[in-house]
Amino acid sequence: MGFYNKMSWVLAFLGFMFLGGLSNANGAIHHYDFVLKETNFTRLCSTKSILTVNGSLPGPTITVQKGDTAFVNVHNQGLYGLTIHWHGVKQPRNPWSDGPENVTQCPIPAGTNFTYEVIFSSEEGTLWWHAHSDWTRATVYGAIVILPALNTTYPFATPDAQETLILGSWFKGDVMELIEYALASGGDPNISDAFVINGQPGDLYDCSNETTYRWLVDYGKTYLLRVINAVMNEEQFFAIANHTLTVVAQDAAYIKPITTSYIMITPGQTMDILVTANQPPSHYYIASKAYVDGTVAFNNSTTTAIVQYNGNYSAPSTTPFPTLPDYDNETAADNFTSQIRALASKEHPISVPLEIDSKIIISIAINERICPNSSCSGPDGNALSASLNNISFELPSVDILQAYYRGNNNGVYSTSFPNKPPYTFNFTGDVGNNTIYPSFGTRVRMIKYGEGVEIVFQGTNIIAPENHPMHLHGYSFYVVGTGSGNFNSTTSPKTYNLVDPPEVNTIGVPKNGWAAIRFVADNPGVWFMHCHLERHSSWGMDTVLIVRNGNTTERKIRSPPAYMPPCSKS
Ligand code: C2O
Ligand code: CU
Repeated sequence: MGFYNKMSWVLAFLGFMFLGGLSNANGAIHHYDFVLKETNFTRLCSTKSILTVNGSLPGPTITVQKGDTAFVNVHNQGLYGLTIHWHGVKQPRNPWSDGPENVTQCPIPAGTNFTYEVIFSSEEGTLWWHAHSDWTRATVYGAIVILPALNTTYPFATPDAQETLILGSWFKGDVMELIEYALASGGDPNISDAFVINGQPGDLYDCSNETTYRWLVDYGKTYLLRVINAVMNEEQFFAIANHTLTVVAQDAAYIKPITTSYIMITPGQTMDILVTANQPPSHYYIASKAYVDGTVAFNNSTTTAIVQYNGNYSAPSTTPFPTLPDYDNETAADNFTSQIRALASKEHPISVPLEIDSKIIISIAINERICPNSSCSGPDGNALSASLNNISFELPSVDILQAYYRGNNNGVYSTSFPNKPPYTFNFTGDVGNNTIYPSFGTRVRMIKYGEGVEIVFQGTNIIAPENHPMHLHGYSFYVVGTGSGNFNSTTSPKTYNLVDPPEVNTIGVPKNGWAAIRFVADNPGVWFMHCHLERHSSWGMDTVLIVRNGNTTERKIRSPPAYMPPCSKS
């Protein structure tokens, strides 16, 4: 073996060390400027002002290679304070730049700026960023593309080109007023008026077909299509007419390729899909619509975009339309998600913990909050609410991270989030009346550094059973099991997949079912965990995991940046 061969072994070994840990090596540094401002947009026959980044919808794409760092200077030229979150970026030891309002920082006041340091580590694939203050994420979102690190490649033939499609929601009214009104009245917030693909509703809505998003392709090329679900309140089915989808990654982690005619993607999730333009050159519809497996109000419309082949041909008189499952087709959703397995290869190994130190069971519920004189517009004249383990989360008025870091809690939060539901009953059957009313508070769960953690999310039949896309900041986690009905601590773990469980940051907990996740708590910080259906999160379907420091500097939260946005205690 020659010198260079030996060197490459050494380099490969160093590379492996880097892949295995959360530490970020010396990747490249990128700089971005995000200018938040009100911008006029015309959609669905009317013009309104929305909050945007750099005047565009979706906002700018952040493109990095694995292990890089991006500094994003957010200039808030909008009307109110807000924050940005880097969804799915683990931010090792750096909760300061994670973003959820009043969890890791106070909002960036209008007229000021704040620089986020977005540290990439083991992620590779697609993630996204979005505002994380009230409902501002409705228009403030964009893609994060993480390419393979230098001198590494995809675990499949390098695609000829790439494309990103972001699914979103469009509201004719002002989203901030909409959620404020809903919370004040206690009823359901208005449903959106359209879904959009890259900001455009598409041909099936009024006044939209001139501006339908077009994806131009060359015959014979294979594309890496990145699909991001930034929709506010509905899971989505997505398909492309006459084209087969080969899903190769989810939430910036590779999976065993799945060949399918449609996908189901929850708010918060991303999927990387290989698409070969192998059909007769023409136009083909891309379509997306809601998957809602409950009896709740939802937007039942379909958004479209068009795959348009380059070249000379006459446009078809009828553009082929894909077949999407019915909005309530639970079997179609399950058939797709049950196929997802981690790639679990030598280059992309998994590290699911087998020893569990902290076992947490969390029930998920829609609830009611008692309303004076039964004057609210939710069920029974009460206000709608939501909870985890029967605790409806209340955001504090100053951020939890600073209170924790300074060791000066001062009543900002309590550490009493329970390890299991306060009452045990038939969660997914006849639930009776006993847990309709939750308790309220800012209760967090403390976790020791390095622990193996298992969380079982238990869906419930309280008020309105539904699929809940649960998202954890600061981590990705392994989905080791899912099932219908009640989790059984003896029999359910026997069905776990510990060989190639998918590694994700958001998991759709099946309606009236459960999902078990595992991760090693190797990222100290204050990490928000919540349902990514925005109305549920607003109602309190949230909590916080605080992972304590370990005993060396590399296992402790970094010191705060010189400047953090101020908290005006009011
Ligand atoms: Cu994409 Cu806390 O969220
Ligand atoms: Cu939910």
